[in-house]
Amino acid sequence: MNDFLLKEELSNIDLLFGQLWEISVDGMRLTDEDGRILLVNDSFCKIFQMEKDQLIGKPFSTVYAKPEQEAALKAYQRDIQRDEIKTLFERENTLWNGRRAWFEFSNSFLTLPDGNKITLSIVKEISKRKKSEIELRESEQKFKMLFNNINDAVFVTQLSKDKSYGDFIEVNEVACRRLGYTKEEFLMLSPSAIVWQKCIDDFNLFNERLLKEEHVIYDLVHRAKDKKLIPVEVNSHLFLYNDKLTVLSIARDITERKQAEEKLKRSSKLLRELATHLQSIREEERTMISQEIHDELGQVLTALKIQVSLLANKLNKNQGPLKQKINSLADMIDSSVESVQKISSKLRPGILDELGLIAAIEWQTEEFEKLTNIKCSLVLPKDEVKLERDKTTAIFRIFQEALTNIARHSEATKVAVSLLNHQSNIYLEIQDNGRGITQEQIKDFKSLGIHGMVERAMVFGGQVSIEGFAGSGTIVKVEIPFDEIKNGR
Ligand SMILES: Nc1ncnc2c1ncn2[C@@H]1O[C@H](COP(=O)(O)OP(=O)(O)OP(=O)(O)O)[C@@H](O)[C@H]1O
Ligand SMILES: [Mg+2]
Repeated sequence: MNDFLLKEELSNIDLLFGQLWEISVDGMRLTDEDGRILLVNDSFCKIFQMEKDQLIGKPFSTVYAKPEQEAALKAYQRDIQRDEIKTLFERENTLWNGRRAWFEFSNSFLTLPDGNKITLSIVKEISKRKKSEIELRESEQKFKMLFNNINDAVFVTQLSKDKSYGDFIEVNEVACRRLGYTKEEFLMLSPSAIVWQKCIDDFNLFNERLLKEEHVIYDLVHRAKDKKLIPVEVNSHLFLYNDKLTVLSIARDITERKQAEEKLKRSSKLLRELATHLQSIREEERTMISQEIHDELGQVLTALKIQVSLLANKLNKNQGPLKQKINSLADMIDSSVESVQKISSKLRPGILDELGLIAAIEWQTEEFEKLTNIKCSLVLPKDEVKLERDKTTAIFRIFQEALTNIARHSEATKVAVSLLNHQSNIYLEIQDNGRGITQEQIKDFKSLGIHGMVERAMVFGGQVSIEGFAGSGTIVKVEIPFDEIKNGR
């Protein structure tokens, strides 16, 4: 190859590099060992908004704001001396015009044939990328803070086709603390491993619902590593993350709520038992007093009546006025006997214990009709229903309260009563045609008569429902389950 051709080729390569230097979109700079600029391309000038003649021959740090210049230059010179030039790095600088910007530098050392070292720097402005990176990092940090500082345990699980429960992909610090697993242990666990075995059916059910409805809230019991059981309320959301079905679950510890509920349940059970106990004591006392009055007082009065009659018979004809007195005495004894019977049956009608519920209802209805002039119709079973004494009493007392309410509040002119036993249930209905009870009156906590009826039925697993129709009446329906007693009461 002759010299001429070689020179021509070399000048072609120079030309090519010269063009490449200028068309590059990245800023390019050549600097000598002291940091003075030997050459820059157009992109470099554009990035730093300076002209070539403001740059060439000047220290590279002229592109920066004054306070940064010296430090930048010294650091460069020191690195050159130590042969430690950083090859690829990112840095934020304040420029000569006050603008702050992020740059990515890629430096390489070149040693010239004369032994001098020069540095080729390729510069990219990366402010936009950096800004979004910083924003992303900040929002990640915020999210992380939220994730870990929330008072509830948070679990993120990802569902996969082969595993029905999927895998944990993220848990927060509260979840780790509460359940006693490290995050690493969590990521190895199946999400079902933290569910108390007795709740697993509920858990499956709610997972199925979640897939359909995308959001479910349910109560569950978690089981910690140390086997401690923690009642929680879980709030789960389904969403797509990295093209996979993902579940975000927030579990709130509801131990206190559950304890309070339990306490409330226990105390209301206790109150109910106490009320039932008091009712039965009251009923026993009524029965006892009613019998005592009926038997003792009744017998004394009957004996008195006999004695008085005998006395009257012993009087002769000319003792007329005395006989009259004795006769009125006998009348007084008769009306006292009547009063005793009334009081005694008001306390507890003997008919209830002697003839049973049907007869007692018939008797009570007749009494009610006599007292109020309200017409009553009765539908009763043909055969006596043989119930336990407590249930008979409860139904009868509910019936009495319903009639008393009709007499006191309904302004009704007709009442229809029906008693029916069907498939181990006894149904009693009392319907009037009065003004109709309102919902507010039914629910009013002062309506003790109504609450008493409901309570009496509830003791036996039964129920009382009351419905009012404005201007056309009220219907009280009682339903009590029973096992018929085969041989007497
Ligand atoms: N058959 C009815 N028709 C219309 N209103 C009724 C009827 N029964 C009850 N009410 C209304 O419901 C209210 C509550 O009844 P409830 O039996 O609880 O209390 P009360 O009869 O007023 O008092 P008590 O505690 O002595 O029974 C009554 O005050 C009345 O306004
Ligand atoms: Mg009442």
